[in-house]
Amino acid sequence: MDNFAVFGNPIKHSRSPQIHALFAAETGISHSYAQVLTSLENFEQMLRQFFNTGGLGANITMPFKERAFALCDHLTERAVMSRAVNTVKKYPDGSLLGDNTDGIGLISDLQRLDLLFQENRVLIVGAGGAARGVILPLLSFGCRLVLTNRTFSRAQELVSFYRHLGDISAVPLDKLASADYDLIINATSLGVHGKAPALQGSLITPAVSCYDMFYQDGDTPFISWCRQQGAKRCAGGLGMLVGQAAYAFLLWHGVLPPILSVLEQLCSGQT
Ligand code: ATR
Repeated sequence: MDNFAVFGNPIKHSRSPQIHALFAAETGISHSYAQVLTSLENFEQMLRQFFNTGGLGANITMPFKERAFALCDHLTERAVMSRAVNTVKKYPDGSLLGDNTDGIGLISDLQRLDLLFQENRVLIVGAGGAARGVILPLLSFGCRLVLTNRTFSRAQELVSFYRHLGDISAVPLDKLASADYDLIINATSLGVHGKAPALQGSLITPAVSCYDMFYQDGDTPFISWCRQQGAKRCAGGLGMLVGQAAYAFLLWHGVLPPILSVLEQLCSGQT
């Protein structure tokens, strides 16, 4: 029985088990970690069953972050403010704490890559659970945010929720002005299906940085498209994945594992 696991659908390409095995090796903390494919109907039941049979902590990935938020008994402030949960911890009394470490994972990776500065104008593409996890951290960092999304009303809802906390607005996909952004972040789930969001090529200049919260070996579809349009500074989301995993490990064990050395091991293919 593994005490920790990631729940998602799809899940088979997840690198979280590999990352957590490296954290365990680096810290010397025993930490068995599985991946669980859950059907859309049975997510809540399978997560509860996991915690009722020895599970101590879980990561939650797409498309279940908002459902995990609804299920937890207690929430960190980060989870409350994102209304999405990517990390669950079981307390000794059996109750479940929900946290969201996506924002700190993204910010720390963007800083590592030198892609984020205060006052940056940032375009976020997508308005689901992944976007929610990073909006407040980016606003708190001092960025000015524009949200766009296929279903525009979802972007508008997020703007209504966060408006009092910073400079944030919503613009429909077909009304985005050219070259107005310092950084464009893909927070859609399209990469899973081998696709990139339908953006106008005129948004991309050599000065724009592009970041995909999705990751895969080699360039993601979004990053390939950005490079084709002339973007020079691009990155996929592996560094964010390691960062959010490290802060989940911290919540579970009270120890922050070394993010950079684990990322280097993953990138150099040592594992
Ligand atoms: P997650 O928790 O990963 O964010 P989600 O809540 O299902 O998952 O959100 C997925 C995001 O990807 C949404 O912004 C979604 O757009 P809609 O709100 O219009 O559904 C976006 N997305 C998914 N499939 C898409 C597609 N084929 N074209 C454009 N956007 C898509």
